[in-house]
Amino acid sequence: ISLFTTTASAQTYPERTITMVVPFSAGGPTDTVARLVAESMSKDLGQQIVVENVGGAGGTLGAGRVASSEADGYTILLHHIGMATSATLYRKLAYDTLNAFEYVGLVTEVPMTIVARKDFEPTDLKGMIDYVKANKDTVTVANAGIGAASHLCGMLFMSAIETPLVTVPYKGTGPAMTDLLGGQVDIMCDQTTNTTKQIQGGTIKAYAVTSPAKLPVLPDVPTAMESGLADFEVGIWHGVYSPKGTPADVNERLAKSLQLALKDPNVVDRFAELGTVPSSEADATPAALKAKLESEITRWKPVIEAAGQYAD
Ligand code: MLT
Repeated sequence: ISLFTTTASAQTYPERTITMVVPFSAGGPTDTVARLVAESMSKDLGQQIVVENVGGAGGTLGAGRVASSEADGYTILLHHIGMATSATLYRKLAYDTLNAFEYVGLVTEVPMTIVARKDFEPTDLKGMIDYVKANKDTVTVANAGIGAASHLCGMLFMSAIETPLVTVPYKGTGPAMTDLLGGQVDIMCDQTTNTTKQIQGGTIKAYAVTSPAKLPVLPDVPTAMESGLADFEVGIWHGVYSPKGTPADVNERLAKSLQLALKDPNVVDRFAELGTVPSSEADATPAALKAKLESEITRWKPVIEAAGQYAD
């Protein structure tokens, strides 16, 4: 056996277009992150990365699509913390979260914002919480389905205020934002990658950010913690995965391209405008993403079980 044989695909990979599945609608926060990263990675790889939006079931349909794809490096997934929470929320998942994927690397950790339609009456988070508790049967909360980041943040919010609310699920917070702008839905907890421009433009109202400190792009928006929601902090980390069995050197080649993309000035600047920063080179690796996913499944399992919210 030749000691120098390596899978031909790895030596010449990629030879054709790569599909990056985003498990939420176009125009939402996950899609925004994916398109910026895919555009930059395409330049390095010399092949187009085409983003395909596969929404539904809080991101688990899109993840399942990739789990059952050819493990040849030409179908990859960009997903976020929902990969970890869905492992507990869904007791009948179409894939085994810790055994259906290979890892490429972490991409970014995005803060969230608690927002409302612009004419929502309360003027601060405390007033908003009082109002929501007093009108718990009529106030509507938008999210992107059980397993979405917006679902997780909404669940944490309802647990913190000890009040269940009426939720309205969408295939992504892109379409949810359309209804928030139109006043068809009242509140949402969504990532700055989807809300920053709307908040700055005054077309929605922001009550808090879920980051440990105020964000430079939203200097007037207090943190949830300083507004009375003690230890209400959640960051939406994103990772790139490939189907189980994808050759390790293909994943490494993708990781190298991801690391370059995360240093691309256009990616860095656009992320900054949207309230987030790229993951470090050390985190944009298969090992770092694997460790993150495993630790996050462990971290969120008891929180989800305490909230008692499951998908089936
Ligand atoms: C989520 O809520 O998980 C995402 O924001 C949905 C999306 O990216 O559209």
